Formats: sequence, C-alpha cells, structure tokens
Amino acid sequence: MPLLPSKELLNWAEKRNVAVAAFNFNNYEFLDAICRAAAEMELPVILATSEGAIKYMGVEVIRGMVESSIKRYGITASLHLDHGRSFETILFAIRHNYTSVMIDASDKPYHENVRLTRKVVEIAHPLGITVEAELGVLAGEEDEISAKESIYTDPYQAQRFVMETGVDMLAVAVGTSHGAYKFKGEPRIDLTRIRKIRELTGIPLVLHGASGIYEEYARKLGMEDAKGVPDAILKKAIEFGVRKVNTDTDLRMAFKVGVLETLREYGGIDPRKYLGRGREEVHKMAIRRLKVIST
Ligand code: G3H
Ligand code: 13P
Ligand code: ZN
Repeated sequence: MPLLPSKELLNWAEKRNVAVAAFNFNNYEFLDAICRAAAEMELPVILATSEGAIKYMGVEVIRGMVESSIKRYGITASLHLDHGRSFETILFAIRHNYTSVMIDASDKPYHENVRLTRKVVEIAHPLGITVEAELGVLAGEEDEISAKESIYTDPYQAQRFVMETGVDMLAVAVGTSHGAYKFKGEPRIDLTRIRKIRELTGIPLVLHGASGIYEEYARKLGMEDAKGVPDAILKKAIEFGVRKVNTDTDLRMAFKVGVLETLREYGGIDPRKYLGRGREEVHKMAIRRLKVIST
C-alpha cells in the first residue's frame, strides 16, 4: 500500500468515532517501533516529522525509511509534515512526496494565518495532499517559537477560518501544550470548547501536546513534576471530535528509559544493545497510545 493522504485515515477514524495517532520520529529506531506497533494492532498511523526532524535525518532518508517500513510491515500510513512554518517548507515537503502537511501560522495575525493557509490549500488539494492548520496558540514551546500564555481557539473564529481556507483538519488550543510539563495543578482541557468547535466547523480536530506523560516513566527519569493528558480526558476529547492525536514526548521518554536502564548494566559498546532496548520501549509505548487513541 502506498503512502495515503491523512484525509483517508481521518475518514476511517470518523466512521469509528476514534482518532488516528500521529507519532513524531527522529530516527530509525522510533520509526521501526511505531510501524511494528501499528502492524500488530492492525491500525493506521500518521508518521510525522517536524522541520527539526527533517534537518536531522535528511528528507531522502526519511522517504526511503518510511516507504520501506510501511511495505515491510504492510501498514496503512501517511507521511506528515508537522508544524511547517513557511510556504517554502510546505513546498519542500510536497516536492518530496509528503502526503499531508501542517501549515502552522498560528503565531501570526488571523488574516495572515488565513492567507497562508489558503495558499497552501490551493497548491496541496489538486495534488491530493491533506492540509492541517492551527488556530489559537498552545502554551509552552512550539518548535522554535515559544508562547508564554496559551490563547484558546475561539469557536466562531474557527468556523470562519475553516470556511475561508478550506482546510481539512484544524489544530486547536484547548489547554494542552508541548513537552512533559503541561499542567501545574490538575490537568484541565476545555472539552466544551472542543465540542463547540467541532459543531461549528464540522471538520476533524487535531490535539497537539496530547502526550499522557505516564508516571512510571516520569519517575524513572527524575521528572517528578511532569504531567500530561490523562487517558480518560483524551478519550473524551476524541468523543467530542478530535480525530488526530499527536504524540512525541511519551515516545521520547520511553526511549530514554530503555537506553538508560540498559546502559546501567551493560558495559559494552554495541549500540544495538542500548538503542534496541530503547526501540522496545518505544514500541510498548506506541501500542499503549494506539489503544487509547484508536480503539
Ligand atoms: O510539536 C513539536 C514536536 O514535539 C516536535 O518537536 O521540533 O523538537 O522535533 P521538535
Ligand atoms: P507532546 O509533546 O505532548 O508529545 O505533543 C507532540 C506534538 O504535538 C507534536 O506536534
Ligand atoms: Zn505539535
């Protein structure tokens, strides 16, 4: 099966009232673990790379690894550009056979966000490429920009934005943030807002910063104050219209636990020993996330 546009995966999720898991990866170990998990669960998956991931791996290497991995595991997948900040980056991804792109102009004024998103839709849609945009600003680090405060997505503005741009899926700011420290007190996600945005736009919504930050991993890494989105809340968000759930940090934490635990006992120099254990932990975590997100 060739790489599909994310839209086809979203349609699959829509019919089942679940979401598609979008996993970020930065190397072979993560990609292999994610694809194997998707194959074992018989679920589709969105393979996402940020601009930083493209810089790190090189776009040809990404393409080669992704195409051979989906063939090897026989999975249904799309290749997605995560947080593309400029029109040039979007063109670059499209030229390199990405089947799905995110134009993230959420830090720009509304009209500029609309203008840029529409421009991306105009070029991507005739090629059958799915487009994600973002409205509102998540708190914390978003790749190279950082927002101190989150600006929640306004449902009526979202409705207008979708009509004006023709975008396929919309990332919303509803209380999550990227990374391992999402909440100071109790985790709070504005579920009512999700429901309202969904009602008014009628399109699939995307939850960024959705990692669960599971306690056993946080403890092993000495990240006691880390806090994520509890599974039960994520399930509710999906019930209310989230159709793509992004996970990066959970995989990163799982990988680090695997590598650290191996290196504590293993005195050798074979990278397959410790990277392999990291890969096993990413695989376990990907299965765990797929169960919450897509079943
Ligand atoms: O949304 C951000 C993702 O976690 C990617 O992070 O820019 O460090 O690759 P990155
Ligand atoms: P986490 O940091 O919660 O894993 O979110 C990742 C993300 O939103 C990637 O775009
Ligand atoms: Zn994100």
